[in-house]
Amino acid sequence: MIFNCRTAKDTQSLGARLGKVLKPGMVVSLTGPLGAGKTVLVKGVAKALGIKENIVSPTFTLVQEYSGSMSMLHLDLYRISGCEEFEQMGGEDFLYPQGVAFIEWSEKIAEMMPADTIYITLTIKDDHSRDVEIKGIEL
Ligand SMILES: Nc1ncnc2c1ncn2[C@@H]1O[C@H](COP(=O)(O)OP(=O)(O)OP(=O)(O)O)[C@@H](O)[C@H]1O
Ligand SMILES: [Mg+2]
Repeated sequence: MIFNCRTAKDTQSLGARLGKVLKPGMVVSLTGPLGAGKTVLVKGVAKALGIKENIVSPTFTLVQEYSGSMSMLHLDLYRISGCEEFEQMGGEDFLYPQGVAFIEWSEKIAEMMPADTIYITLTIKDDHSRDVEIKGIEL
C-alpha cells in the first residue's frame, strides 16, 4: 500500500495509524534517503504508543529504547559494517523485541531480518511530498 504524505504532519499521522495496529514482537524496517521522514514517522508511532519522551536519531548510539503502552526500540545501523559486527554487539536480541522495533538501514543485516518484517520505504517526490510504501501490514 502506498500513501502520499504532503506534509510532515501527514507522515506523522500515518505513523500514528501504524502505531495503533502494531502488535508486540513486530519488527519494522525503514528505508529512504536523508530527510525523507523516517524519524517523523517514528515520532507518530511513539505518540500512538503514549511515549512522552522526545524521539532522537540513534545514529551514534545504535539503539534507543522508549517505553509506552509497549516498549519501542529504534535502531540505526548506518555505522555498522554488517551481520558480523551486529552479532558481536548482541544485536540479534533487538530483532525479537518484547514490544516493537524500528530499524533504519536494515539492508546491512538483510540476511538476519525476520521473515515477517514489515518493510516501509519512503520516497521524496518532485513536489516535496513523500510516498510511503508499507508492506506486510494493513492499516
Ligand atoms: N511530507 C513530509 N513528510 C515527512 N517529512 C517532511 C515532509 N515534508 C517535509 N518534511 C521535513 O523533512 C524532514 C524529515 O526529517 P527526518 O529526520 O524525519 O528524516 P529521516 O528520514 O529520519 O532522515 P535521516 O536519514 O537523516 O535520519 C523534516 O524536517 C520534516 O519537517
Ligand atoms: Mg532519522
